Amino acid sequence: MTKTEYRFTFGTVESRVYIGEKLPAPGDDLYGTSKALVVCDTNTEYLVRRFPKGREIPCCVLPAGEEAKTWESVEHVLEAAYTAGLGRDGLIIGAGGGVITDIAGFAAAIYMRGVRLRLVSTTLLGMVDASVGGKTGFDLLGVKNLAGAFYPAEAVYMPLESLATLPHREWKSGMAEVIKTAVLAGDREMVSRIRSFRDVYLGGILDAGGRDEARNDLGYLISRAVEIKGRIVEEDPKETGERRALLNLGHTFGHALEASAGLGRLTHGEAVAWGVIRACELGHALGLTALEQALEIRELIQSYGYTTEAPHPAMGNMDGYFRALEGDKKKKAGRLVFIVPAKRSAEKITIDPEDLRFRAVLRSIINGDYHF
Ligand code: GLY
Repeated sequence: MTKTEYRFTFGTVESRVYIGEKLPAPGDDLYGTSKALVVCDTNTEYLVRRFPKGREIPCCVLPAGEEAKTWESVEHVLEAAYTAGLGRDGLIIGAGGGVITDIAGFAAAIYMRGVRLRLVSTTLLGMVDASVGGKTGFDLLGVKNLAGAFYPAEAVYMPLESLATLPHREWKSGMAEVIKTAVLAGDREMVSRIRSFRDVYLGGILDAGGRDEARNDLGYLISRAVEIKGRIVEEDPKETGERRALLNLGHTFGHALEASAGLGRLTHGEAVAWGVIRACELGHALGLTALEQALEIRELIQSYGYTTEAPHPAMGNMDGYFRALEGDKKKKAGRLVFIVPAKRSAEKITIDPEDLRFRAVLRSIINGDYHF
């Protein structure tokens, strides 16, 4: 695909996103005139070495995986930045999936009270969600993203070539966010491209037949997901209003599943896909999600091979799941917040967890007794 560029304004920060086959390209000014530090992991180190001047820039290599999303990793980046001589005009470049871009972003937010930040996003999940919109942070006490900051990157590069080596589970993780975005935006063209991409996806991603068509679909889906997310974040950069919360469709149910299964056991997307189905059931029970919409969403998610039944086989016991769900309400003043599909888009609902009618509906959904 030819290079696509988006310009977003998140609060006071202008953030540009570049999507293309091989990025950053030789003409791209990745480092500017600042002293720079690249942050990557053992999976993306090879890619960093191939960047223009990639061997000359100091590089901090972290272990790969969610387990590395810790304060120790942040500290490691801060020390590397200091050792590399970055001053207040320094630049941190995070090159990797969501863990690396979140860690690099948070380190950039606090190093000398904030230095420049650029990202090279190398996974599907990173491209369509994590690297856009400025959420950064790390996990603490077994809670995902317990500490962090809003700190949008000034530039995000999305090299589609980096997806060629992405493991299948990582594709599955990212596709769930693509489907979620199409649902909440009520975007019919996205839904149709998700359908046409499916056979190639299930048949071995881009090595299967129909390569060009699949690449077109994939480029389109990533671009649209970025555009939709970017425009929503522009309206509500710090999630203080109603808009940005819509991006959490399926996430309240999904986060509780991730936590009760044990962090890292399921991918984020596997949990979100399952959570979107539960959100359809809740929306349907409350009269907000039309049957036709719920059926279409379920068909789309099932066609990508996600586990959709409740209870989820990895869930652990029911009490553990409900404890994790209740844990979520800490963030929202004692209330539970769900985003449910509604009127070809999505709607935010806030519920008192002591409400008995609601508790019964929730139990039947998680038990697998609710059917639309
Ligand atoms: N991942 C949801 C958001 O960025 O708001």
